[in-house]
Amino acid sequence: MLISIVVAMAKNRVIGNNGQLPWQLPTDLQRFKRLTMGHTLLMGRRTFESIGQPLPGRRTIVVSRNPGYRVAGCEVVTSIEAGVELAGAAEELFICGGSDIYQQTLALAERIYLTELDAEIAGDSSFPLWSDDDFELLHTELCRDNIDYSFSIWQQMEL
Ligand SMILES: NC(=O)c1ccc[n+]([C@@H]2O[C@H](COP(=O)([O-])OP(=O)(O)OC[C@H]3O[C@@H](n4cnc5c(N)ncnc54)[C@H](OP(=O)(O)O)[C@@H]3O)[C@@H](O)[C@H]2O)c1
Repeated sequence: MLISIVVAMAKNRVIGNNGQLPWQLPTDLQRFKRLTMGHTLLMGRRTFESIGQPLPGRRTIVVSRNPGYRVAGCEVVTSIEAGVELAGAAEELFICGGSDIYQQTLALAERIYLTELDAEIAGDSSFPLWSDDDFELLHTELCRDNIDYSFSIWQQMEL
């Protein structure tokens, strides 16, 4: 199973503010939908609650340390490892944040779908620093929306 991170971040690495995305980029959301449709997603409990409902057409695994946490239409696990194991038969697992989950899964990710906004945005959640030394750039494109941004795909190089 390919383990992939999908993230959109500002120039200053911000990914969220007050539990929400601090921007609206309809073209990037459409790409996220196309990319993940029919696949399995793993996300932190706070990110799930900021979305507020299971995303249609996708299997959603929510990670919470609260063993009593339940969400209709999602599977809940109490560790990231349990989530990865549960997704085991999937072709690709899309890790969808937030900051806490990215921090803990960066070392597992073989692929990163990275949206980078051409703007600094105020916020309280950020994407961890990562080194692209071990990653190969598979694809990059410049995109226009109400904020210009780039979309790139990074793949971990074979060791
Ligand atoms: N720009 C983007 O691409 C993007 C993507 C996703 C999210 N975001 C933003 O990121 C922010 C949310 O990020 P966040 O860091 O606050 O929260 P988060 O990563 O979404 O969720 C954190 C929660 O996940 C659970 N958790 C974390 N590690 C765990 C582990 N090892 N085992 C079991 N459960 C674990 C805990 O839930 P419990 O407290 O229930 O135990 C923890 O409170 C929001 O602003 C959101 O909009 C941005």
